[in-house]
Amino acid sequence: MKIALVKGDGIGPDIINEAVKVLDKVAAKYNFEVTYEEVLAGGCSIDKIGEPLPQSSIDQCLSCDSVLLGAVGGPKWDNVDSSLRPEKALLGLRAGMNLFCNLRPAIMYPQLSAACPLKDEIIGDGLDIMVVRELTGGIYYGKRGSDENSAFDTLSYTVSEIERIVKKAFEIAMVRDKKLTSVDKANILNSSQLWRSVVERMAKDYPEVKVNHLYVDNAAMQLVRDPNQFDVIVTTNMFGDILSDEASQITGSIGMLPSASLGSGTLGMYEPIHGSAPDIAGKDLANPIATILSVAMMLRYSFNMEKEAKAIEEAVGNVLDLNYRTGDIFTKGMIKVGTKEMGNLIAQAI
Ligand code: IPM
Ligand code: MG
Repeated sequence: MKIALVKGDGIGPDIINEAVKVLDKVAAKYNFEVTYEEVLAGGCSIDKIGEPLPQSSIDQCLSCDSVLLGAVGGPKWDNVDSSLRPEKALLGLRAGMNLFCNLRPAIMYPQLSAACPLKDEIIGDGLDIMVVRELTGGIYYGKRGSDENSAFDTLSYTVSEIERIVKKAFEIAMVRDKKLTSVDKANILNSSQLWRSVVERMAKDYPEVKVNHLYVDNAAMQLVRDPNQFDVIVTTNMFGDILSDEASQITGSIGMLPSASLGSGTLGMYEPIHGSAPDIAGKDLANPIATILSVAMMLRYSFNMEKEAKAIEEAVGNVLDLNYRTGDIFTKGMIKVGTKEMGNLIAQAI
């Protein structure tokens, strides 16, 4: 397999290096071959060539079997023209590879349950929610404009854009607890009314899946009131952006969570949900686990290698069971390790 590495900015290179270490170990153990190709995108690309995502980078990603991304952006580029911000690299990669389906699992690691901000009686025996976010449409990609006195962004969805993401969500619900919550704002937005009608129509094809609809404000509230009512959540680009941050924070494991962006084929882009943390870049302080778990998602979703994916997830669990922690998840009595040491430990556990 040929993997595009978009190391990006801040801690991006630190965490990608550890993910590569672990993937190489898995490849050696399970007998497959991996090659890598580094791709320029984000703030580092602005510095080097004056733009966040050259077409050649998109082409390079498209020519690989999958993409592993560290993080892009940082305060250094806060004042560049909005069309040149590092975040444009992310949006460009998503659209350029047609990755319309963003999977963001919000899982609580029992070893880290002390970091969960909700009361024990609310959490019960854990948390495992899958947020399925539409990623290449909606208000992120609509027509926009501004002058001195006003500014606008456009939110629109077509039936086929809704159908393809809702189909993925149903398929995922079928292999989980068969419960799907669709989140919208159908009491106000036309696009949400369309969204809801498509979900209702498609629900007939999946009679085993229990479907409900929530308005986004209510969903935000329910996520902290009783998160275990959720199994799979499917929603639009912007609502998914917001709710996936909320869902990840209630697990207490925000530095630990991976994500996958998928299209209709096997090419995907995999990245941690956290940002580029420029303040700790290059200092051997970052937690590489979310990126390492993103490699597990990559093996599962792009290469259908379930056994190999599980091996990574179990190795992470084993290292946590042995009480090794990076600074962000460190608590008293644990053993503090740096980025590289954490990568080494997980590779060894493979
Ligand atoms: C995310 C991020 C991005 C988004 C930003 C950086 C453009 O918040 O991946 O959730 O809004 O999609
Ligand atoms: Mg976000």
